[in-house]
Amino acid sequence: MSNLTESLKNNIKTGWESPSNIALVKYWGKYDNQLPQNPSVSFTLSTAATRTFVTYSESNHEGMDVSFLFDGHENAPFKSRIEKFLNQMSSEYFPFLKNGHIAIETSNSFPHSSGIASSASAMSALALCLCDIENSLNGNTTFSDAFFRKASFISRLASGSACRSVFPLMAVWGLVPTVAGSSEEWAIGFSEDIHPVFHNFHDDILIISPNEKSVSSSAGHQLMENNPYAPARYTQAGDRLKTLLVAIRDGDIDTFGKITEAEALTLHALMMCSDPAYILMEEGSLTVIKKIQKFRVETGIPVWFTLDAGPNVHVLYPADADQQVQSFIISELKPYCHEGKIIRDKVGTGPKKIS
Ligand code: PMV
Repeated sequence: MSNLTESLKNNIKTGWESPSNIALVKYWGKYDNQLPQNPSVSFTLSTAATRTFVTYSESNHEGMDVSFLFDGHENAPFKSRIEKFLNQMSSEYFPFLKNGHIAIETSNSFPHSSGIASSASAMSALALCLCDIENSLNGNTTFSDAFFRKASFISRLASGSACRSVFPLMAVWGLVPTVAGSSEEWAIGFSEDIHPVFHNFHDDILIISPNEKSVSSSAGHQLMENNPYAPARYTQAGDRLKTLLVAIRDGDIDTFGKITEAEALTLHALMMCSDPAYILMEEGSLTVIKKIQKFRVETGIPVWFTLDAGPNVHVLYPADADQQVQSFIISELKPYCHEGKIIRDKVGTGPKKIS
């Protein structure tokens, strides 16, 4: 082995910026090792992203040694979650981790306290870095479809919906008969059959509350196991997804919006009929939802909402409605946002290598 290869093996540094994503048809309910009970589809976002740098050096003794900085500071709870994940990955997928020093530095483009779920962007950024290090160790310098498929697969094992973050524009995760190559193991990019109006669709995220959720997503997925509506829900998600993809291809914003809003409300309805039942929306969420619907009816401007598993409201609209929707948001919705916080986001081009 040449000195160069030897030294590369001992100091491989990579960095990736990976975005968050917002599901239009929601994944809610899982089985086995993070496999989805129903297919989902998402917009890849642009502004809400995580930047992660990983330096890998092989060590001559057994055991993994991890250092972890979040926003330049040590963070014990994040570090222990990452260490656990890296240990799992080392046995089956990345054996090089077994005896390595792994230094991770990560930061989000959005405030940690904003209530925005960062696991999709964080875990996909980490997965991309690990796949990139593996690539370098194997002497590969290009990022093939197989590279992104593996990154999606690894992201899924870290945090289900993170698997949809590694593709531009949109991603489909789960089996959809009309989407060739769709899989439960990883998401696939969905960028060809998208009408131009959706290429730069806006998503303004209204931060209604920055507080941690009272019921985590993993607990929520688990509660679906005994939810009496679960079987009907899983069928419904598949049917809605098929219709939604046709609307997205045809630029049919009306059908897109109707399905997207229905999905958000269904997700929260499933929480409300779990045992124990719970509510993650706040009063402010309901108020802005009603205002969005009223504004749409009164003006005819195609502005719609969706929700994640939390109280924050995503306002979705086409780029050409930006001016009118902005004045509406500032005057009517911003007063309901925590400290007036809004993240102006839109459909994005996917992850970027930054080092
Ligand atoms: O990826 P998880 O396990 O955090 O689940 C997220 C599920 C939702 O965000 C509510 C919906 C989705 O498909 O992203």
